[in-house]
Amino acid sequence: SGKHKIAVIGSGSWGSALAKIAAENAWKRNGEFHSEVRMWVREKIVNGKPLTHVINRTHLNSRYLPDVKLPRNLVATPHLKDVVKDATLIVFVVPHQFLHTVLSELSRPGVLTPGARAISAIKGVEVNGTDIETFASLIEGRVGTPCSALSGANIALEVAQGQFCETTIGCPSHEDSLLWQAVFDAPTFRVTAVEDVNGVSLGGALKNVVALAAGFVDGLGYGGNTKAAILRIGLKEMTEFCLEFFEGSQRETFSNESAGIADLITTCYGGRNRKCAEEFAKSGQPFEVIEKKLLNGQKLQGTATAEEVHNFLRARKRVHAYPLFEKVYQISFEGMAPKQLVNGL
Ligand code: NAD
Ligand code: 13P
Repeated sequence: SGKHKIAVIGSGSWGSALAKIAAENAWKRNGEFHSEVRMWVREKIVNGKPLTHVINRTHLNSRYLPDVKLPRNLVATPHLKDVVKDATLIVFVVPHQFLHTVLSELSRPGVLTPGARAISAIKGVEVNGTDIETFASLIEGRVGTPCSALSGANIALEVAQGQFCETTIGCPSHEDSLLWQAVFDAPTFRVTAVEDVNGVSLGGALKNVVALAAGFVDGLGYGGNTKAAILRIGLKEMTEFCLEFFEGSQRETFSNESAGIADLITTCYGGRNRKCAEEFAKSGQPFEVIEKKLLNGQKLQGTATAEEVHNFLRARKRVHAYPLFEKVYQISFEGMAPKQLVNGL
């Protein structure tokens, strides 16, 4: 019919919130989009019933996005190949540790529609020895679709409740930016497009490492001055890391866009990485235990990112140039006391 068909891969807190926005826009702009939007839900039996049936009957994803009504044209679907059938616009939004399994299934012949485009809202990086890659680039390489990135100051529940916020999309072409803007832009979710796919991706990944430092500061009982210092140093390391290792990325993505400074601020005050790191500094329990205890099935992204970034910088012999990232790694994984965070910064 020439209309675009949207598929959302992922149904955690952010997956469900983004799927809600995309489905509302698909319904309103039905000259441009198929009204049905499918969302991949990993099947689970909840109180004796399959989760997909519960979501499709109640239009609630009570496990990951409590009390938020989902649009009726958003259909929870258990099998990936059915989710992407005939889809021309594919949104990737699974926690980063599950992306490889998803891509193996999607890269089988005949699963994806030729000419489809993708966008990644996943926050993290992929490291192999001295190589580092964004998930947009990994997706593009594995399944062959051009891939944009979406990232911003977007705590999922606040977005889903319709509280005003902004986000940034980094797109490889002007055509992609117009398409993804049509999918996501809404009065309370303002989308700004930039050409910097790497900057947008790295902003989202690296702020999670800084948010762990912010959580340590909270757990130690320090005040606003210390946290402001951590944010300033963190933003500087984030920006320099991206400019050093990703050719063509832009400083302004970090200083001016939601995917830079704004996401850093919201995550360091209201995010899950901050919350779990505060508990880590207070209780001394390992992060896996804290994640289970505090997040009810949601996934922490910052600790794995801190480890990947550390491995990459070590392989490149550049650890010393990023002292805050390195401190977060040593506190999280090598038993350094949280109060050492600020020593020598
Ligand atoms: P989440 O943290 O709510 O994680 C839950 C999801 O993980 C569920 O859909 C669950 O089915 C799935 N899951 C659990 N085990 C799995 C497995 N073995 N295989 C496959 N899936 C499994 O997820 P989220 O918050 O939607 O996060 C997705 C991405 O979005 C992350 O990279 C995150 O950083 C990013 N993000 C999150 C927020 C937020 O506020 N939650 C905001 C912006 C970006
Ligand atoms: P947390 O994963 O720390 O909750 O951050 C969410 C986020 O990315 C907000 O933009």
